Formats: sequence, C-alpha cells, structure tokens
Amino acid sequence: LAEGPLTGRRILVTSGPTHEPIDPVRYIANRSSGAQGTAIARALTAMGADVVFVTGPADVARPEGAHVVEVETAAQMLDAVQAVLPVDAAVFAAAVADWRVASASDSKIKKQKGAIPAMEFAENPDILATVSQMASGRPPLVVGFAAETDDVIDNATAKRLRKGCDWIVANDVSPETGIMGGSENAVTLVSDDGAEHWPRMGKDEVAHQLAERIAAALG
Ligand code: C5P
Repeated sequence: LAEGPLTGRRILVTSGPTHEPIDPVRYIANRSSGAQGTAIARALTAMGADVVFVTGPADVARPEGAHVVEVETAAQMLDAVQAVLPVDAAVFAAAVADWRVASASDSKIKKQKGAIPAMEFAENPDILATVSQMASGRPPLVVGFAAETDDVIDNATAKRLRKGCDWIVANDVSPETGIMGGSENAVTLVSDDGAEHWPRMGKDEVAHQLAERIAAALG
C-alpha cells in the first residue's frame, strides 16, 4: 500500500450498476460504467487508504490495491456493504437499481406467441440511506452521489437531507453532457456548507479532488 494522508484509514466505495434478474438469462440494468467509482477507489488507494471496493457488474478494470468484492444485485450489495463496516468513510458511487423483479423466475421464461409476460416490481433497499441512518456504527463521513437531469442543486440538496448523508456529489447526466459513460464529469459538491460547483474535468481528477477533501475531513 502507498503511504499518504489516508494511511490507516479504511474506506468503502460502492461502484457500478446492479443487475436485477428477470430469469436466469435476462436482467434489468442501467448505463452506469463504474468509471467514476473506480477512479475514486484508485485515488483513495494512492493516498494510502485501505479501500474496500464493492462493485456491481462493470466492464472497467478493477482498482489495483483495493480489496474488491463483486456483487450482482442491490440486495447482495447491501449485504456486502454491511459486512465491510465499520469504516472511516463510505463513498456510494454505485448506480443501484431502484426496483427488482418481485419474483424472478428460476427457469428461462419461454417466448410464446401472443403472450407477453407481465412483470411486477419490488423496491430495492436504499443502501446509502440505510448506512447514513444507522443508529450505531455509522461511518463518520458518508458521501452519496446524485445523477440528475434537471434542477441538479435543488434535487441534490433535498436528497442529502432525505438520505441523511454528509455530502452529495451531484452531476448532470443529461444525454447531451456525454458524462454517463464518458471520461469527464462536472460535479457540484453539496454539504452542510452549501453547494460548490467544480469545473468540468476528467473523472480521475474529480476522484483526486474528492479524495483530498475526504482526507481533509478525516483530519
Ligand atoms: O436516490 P438516488 O438513486 O438518486 O440516490 C443516489 C445515491 O444513493 C447514490 O449515492 C447511490 O449509490 C445511492 N443509492 C443506494 N442504494 C439505492 C439507491 C441509491 O445506495 N438503492
């Protein structure tokens, strides 16, 4: 491990999408690439942190030097996260599916002419809210993300209070920004102190700046 301002600190990072099965061969997913979460894990590791990286299925290379835990569904991600606690800080960069298929089929659903399967959904656990609101053992610093397409600051500010996390890293993922799946990000850091706009920069640089902020906050 590298030596640095985060040496001796244990930090959890969630990343990537989750996959919610419909049947053994089909699933519901989202467009998260895992790039920003991976970059954050790398930046924290480079600053000396002992990083546990809980990731859903993503195509990006796993961060070297981090302890990697691979999961598929939101339910598995929550279990993995709870097993990792306690930590000094937790960064929730995963794009967790809001819903899962209520009763996924154990066998492949056959295509039958004229018969379209109806699907019922169930709500997934909110991992960020669950950890933020823990009565005991809550990480001293909890950072959430907010991918928004409209009213980014208002939505992120409301989200921070609703979830109970310390910071929200908000970004505009409107298709015309090219941010989702791209190599750059333009974020607004929402904390107790208000909203701070960061200029558009590479996801690695966003990760580095965020890691520095985390190091400063942990002291
Ligand atoms: O509510 P929304 O999905 O927009 O919130 C995004 C933030 O909440 C992200 O930090 C994401 O990792 C986290 N989240 C979570 N579990 C969920 C949904 C979102 O941890 N089920």
